[in-house]
Amino acid sequence: MTDPINVLLIGAGEINFGSVEGPWNHTLRLERILGARLRVIALIDVDGARAKAAIDAKLASPASSAYANCKVYPTVAEAARALLPDVPHLVIVGAPPFARGTDIPGRDLELQLVNAFPRCALFVEKPVSSGPEDACWRVAEVLAKNGSIVGVGYMLRYLKAVQMIKQIIADEGLVVMGTNARYVMAYEWARKLAWWDKTRSGGPIVEQATHFCDLSRYFGGDVQLNSVVAHSVQHHEAPGQLRAKRFDEEVIPPENRLPRLTSATWKYKDGAVGNLTHVIALHGNTYDTEFEVYADGYKFKLVDPYSTPKLYIRRPGKEQEEVHTFVDDDPFHTELATFVDVVEGRSPHEQI
Ligand SMILES: NC(=O)c1ccc[n+]([C@@H]2O[C@H](COP(=O)([O-])OP(=O)(O)OC[C@H]3O[C@@H](n4cnc5c(N)ncnc54)[C@H](O)[C@@H]3O)[C@@H](O)[C@H]2O)c1
Repeated sequence: MTDPINVLLIGAGEINFGSVEGPWNHTLRLERILGARLRVIALIDVDGARAKAAIDAKLASPASSAYANCKVYPTVAEAARALLPDVPHLVIVGAPPFARGTDIPGRDLELQLVNAFPRCALFVEKPVSSGPEDACWRVAEVLAKNGSIVGVGYMLRYLKAVQMIKQIIADEGLVVMGTNARYVMAYEWARKLAWWDKTRSGGPIVEQATHFCDLSRYFGGDVQLNSVVAHSVQHHEAPGQLRAKRFDEEVIPPENRLPRLTSATWKYKDGAVGNLTHVIALHGNTYDTEFEVYADGYKFKLVDPYSTPKLYIRRPGKEQEEVHTFVDDDPFHTELATFVDVVEGRSPHEQI
């Protein structure tokens, strides 16, 4: 295909333009995926100066032609008024969760977008909302009724390792018996106060572990929500004392401080059982993350999905685990590339 793809960006922050903290950077991935077809038609951000600086930097980069006609607007309404008839084909909604995911005016970016651009596909960052749960379901209903193509910024589904597990499950006709997700965070250099305040970040499950919850649902299916049970180690308990913090946690009200370990279990609607353990425990920088899937005769263990994913497979008739290492498997690339394929009709639109 050679037709241009019109992209509207919301948010001039780290998820769309990159950060020193991690590999996320949606514009860089879109440049690689779409090449000369990418046409960023507008950037919406309430912080006009930040938005202008982000676009100026792009105009000085090798990808400048994609941004040559990019305009900056503070709101969806202003962009909609000014852009027509140049409507976006897809929007990356990279604003913080308090600005979206509800039908409360001012916190309703998705609804503003479907009203302004009804045929546009939305790639919404995680967490899908930090507002009331019922409001979030109402937004999902509007998007479903409108037939909108929606992707969410959980990036692990289209990793080669994850797709390999999916393929074996399909080829062998396996029924998933259980999933076990373990996310052990290295906290020593996590110093943003907002991250350590659950009223501001949503806490470690919403902020980090939901990436693995998404993967769990990808293999286990829908969850019986009333079956979820969790235990935690709180900051004031003896096992919750952390020695390597490099910030002053005392300035955060005690009731807002993060649990150190959360362990949850649940039943999927199809009968399998899910487990999730999130721990704030390791020193240094490197996280330790593992995700397992069990089925009759099989154990799949995905290790380190964010950097160099490794997949360990134990199969029937073979006591020795086989090991597959996947180099250059960028989850941020594969997720957006799959989304673009869906938007362009090359991949089916999965209803989940
Ligand atoms: N999927 C991932 O791996 C991943 C990685 C990093 C961040 N994120 C998510 O991306 C989202 C944004 O994070 P970030 O790090 O880019 O934040 P950020 O603070 O760096 O940038 C957010 C930008 O949104 C703007 N903004 C706020 N309210 C707005 C509104 N109503 N309309 C338009 N713009 C508005 C802000 O002015 C700011 O420039 C968060 O939900 C975060 O969790 C996801």
